[in-house]
Amino acid sequence: MTTIEAGLPATLQARVRAETAPWLVTGAAGFIGSNLVETLLRLGQRVVGLDNFATGHQRNLDEVRQLVGEEAWSRFRFIKGDIRRPEDCQAACAGVRHVLHQAALGSVPRSIEDPVDTHSANVTGFLNMLVAARDAGVASFTYAASSSTYGDEPTMPKVEDRIGRPLSPYAATKLFNELYAEVFARCYDFKAIGLRYFNVFGRRQDPDGAYAAVIPQWLAAMIRGDDVFINGDGETTRDFCYVANAVQANLLAALVADPDCEPVFNVAVGQRATLNELFESLATQLAGQGVNYGKQPVYRDFRAGDVRHSLADIGRAHARLGYAPTHTLQLGLGEAMPWYVDFITSREGVQA
Ligand SMILES: NC(=O)c1ccc[n+]([C@@H]2O[C@H](COP(=O)([O-])OP(=O)(O)OC[C@H]3O[C@@H](n4cnc5c(N)ncnc54)[C@H](O)[C@@H]3O)[C@@H](O)[C@H]2O)c1
Repeated sequence: MTTIEAGLPATLQARVRAETAPWLVTGAAGFIGSNLVETLLRLGQRVVGLDNFATGHQRNLDEVRQLVGEEAWSRFRFIKGDIRRPEDCQAACAGVRHVLHQAALGSVPRSIEDPVDTHSANVTGFLNMLVAARDAGVASFTYAASSSTYGDEPTMPKVEDRIGRPLSPYAATKLFNELYAEVFARCYDFKAIGLRYFNVFGRRQDPDGAYAAVIPQWLAAMIRGDDVFINGDGETTRDFCYVANAVQANLLAALVADPDCEPVFNVAVGQRATLNELFESLATQLAGQGVNYGKQPVYRDFRAGDVRHSLADIGRAHARLGYAPTHTLQLGLGEAMPWYVDFITSREGVQA
């Protein structure tokens, strides 16, 4: 297994290692958050983690602990808290230098089922975090924005300055984040950088539940031998981004030297795959792990709120942050696959 920090550009590793004050990662028990925590600890950093376990898991933190070892783990302080509570945000921001804000309720369908819950975590929680970080005088605030903000904008590839109307409550909350970030820059001279993630995947992304993302959901189904459902005709496209690329973007954004850099950046690979292609790739890579999925996918209706095509222009992130994705979809799947096979088979006793 290649660790994320080992694959980061050497200059970025050195810049992170030179930091002396703690980082705050919200959503630390979640997928992207736990990968950020792991990487920062491996780079010798002190990290505060905040999470309420709404969708994150203690097992993710336990795995990071086991992977990084006890010395590194002693530099981690976990706060079980809720970003909907201002006092929890204040406690988490106290004394930290860089905030990597990942906590939110993800998933378009979840937001359609329960827009109020999604709003309170993603908008009220976000605002609480901005206020707490501003008041604590942090040096940087980087947050998880989303490609869903492009909504019905047809331009391909997606460029940061051309967004459409949001297609789901989730997308609306992520647009709200960008609006609040802009307003905080204007009213309080407090700068935040939003990273519009495009379908991030990798180890520890939750395969369970109705709101699981496509790659872990399909992988779990394929390993179990269950049906794989494709919403629509399978020609929907996505710019799948391995989590190492997202981690790189977060660290670059936190340490960006230019105070006048733009407030939002696409974080993706700049290549797209159809869902049919993704299915084939997963089946092929699983076969390489000794799991042969003999079934064809089951096609069903398109899902409300989903965008049809998604492909990022990553030129701005490259030019302004120095972002250079290290992992294509295939490389990322190669990294993530053994983890999923091990996780599902050992947990459920499925024979690989
Ligand atoms: N994974 C993707 O493809 C993707 C794409 C676009 C944007 N994003 C955004 O990236 C961020 C991280 O997503 P992820 O994929 O790691 O999801 P995740 O569900 O694994 O992580 C989110 C974490 O936030 C925590 N959380 C939720 N509500 C909270 C609250 N009120 N207080 C404290 N903690 C809370 C959850 O418990 C969880 O650990 C989210 O903001 C998400 O919207 C993810």
